[in-house]
Amino acid sequence: MDITPKQNNLTVIKLGGSVITKKENEEPQLNESNLKRLAKEIADALAEKDFKMFIVHGAGPFGHVFAKKYNLHLGLHDDKQVEGIGITHRWMQLLNYSVVKALQDEGVKAMPFQPSAGGILCDGRLVQFPLNVVEKFIDMGIVPVSHGDVLLDNRTGIGILSGDHLAPYIAHNLRANRLVLGTDVDGVYSNDPKRHPDARLIPVVTPNNIDDVVEELAGSIAVDVTGGMARKVLELLDLARKGVESEIINITKPGNLYKALVGEKGIGTIIKND
Ligand code: ADP
Ligand code: IPE
Repeated sequence: MDITPKQNNLTVIKLGGSVITKKENEEPQLNESNLKRLAKEIADALAEKDFKMFIVHGAGPFGHVFAKKYNLHLGLHDDKQVEGIGITHRWMQLLNYSVVKALQDEGVKAMPFQPSAGGILCDGRLVQFPLNVVEKFIDMGIVPVSHGDVLLDNRTGIGILSGDHLAPYIAHNLRANRLVLGTDVDGVYSNDPKRHPDARLIPVVTPNNIDDVVEELAGSIAVDVTGGMARKVLELLDLARKGVESEIINITKPGNLYKALVGEKGIGTIIKND
């Protein structure tokens, strides 16, 4: 088993598109109040505790609407899609600009980090990413802010990189202590809590209960192009097997991200190896 030594004082976080945008909209629109509050929680945590950070954010309608319109998640098949690559990317950059600005306004040394410029997928999985560059910026005290994006794919021509894949990839390769994945529900449930009010919160996912959890999650593939909650759980379990613990928390609730960043555990669903 590949257990990576935990040695960097690094926390990776993902800000879900469901929180920083109005995800239900067809038109791209920020959730400005959530974004401002989360930027403040991040700044407060960095002031409270000495640690390094890498931020990934999702897309909401800034990405999914265009990826779907141009079928970018299905590989490269025609010229019309080529136009869509740049358009989707431009919208993601606009969102990234707003996230970075909100963080800088709170005093965080945030800097955009564009995945499509140096990242390559193979069948949707990252096989290349400029980790050495990221590492140097982090060592300098910078908080890189990256995002889901449209990337070259060695097998399909073009593909979608989800923040739910990028965040664990960074956490594993840069030997993070922890990954905090922020979304708009309290954690992993036995079923979609928005459609099934009787769904149970699952406090811990490990290799021991993953088969039962996945069976329950079978009906939970979300409407976005990158796989929703079931995908998050599988990505994070894979990360746990490589030695990095993570937690899925509800960051629409004020204070949760701050508490998780300064070290509180058990706010949502913990994904760990034992
Ligand atoms: P984000 O944009 O934050 O990455 P997603 O929309 O991809 O979030 O996934 C979060 C959504 O997944 C929640 O809003 C919830 O409605 C849905 N969901 C579906 N099944 C489940 C489940 N079993 N447990 C928790 N959430 C689920
Ligand atoms: C998707 O990123 C990126 C594109 C569609 C271009 P994510 O998968 O991380 O986005 P959210 O969090 O589900 O919105």
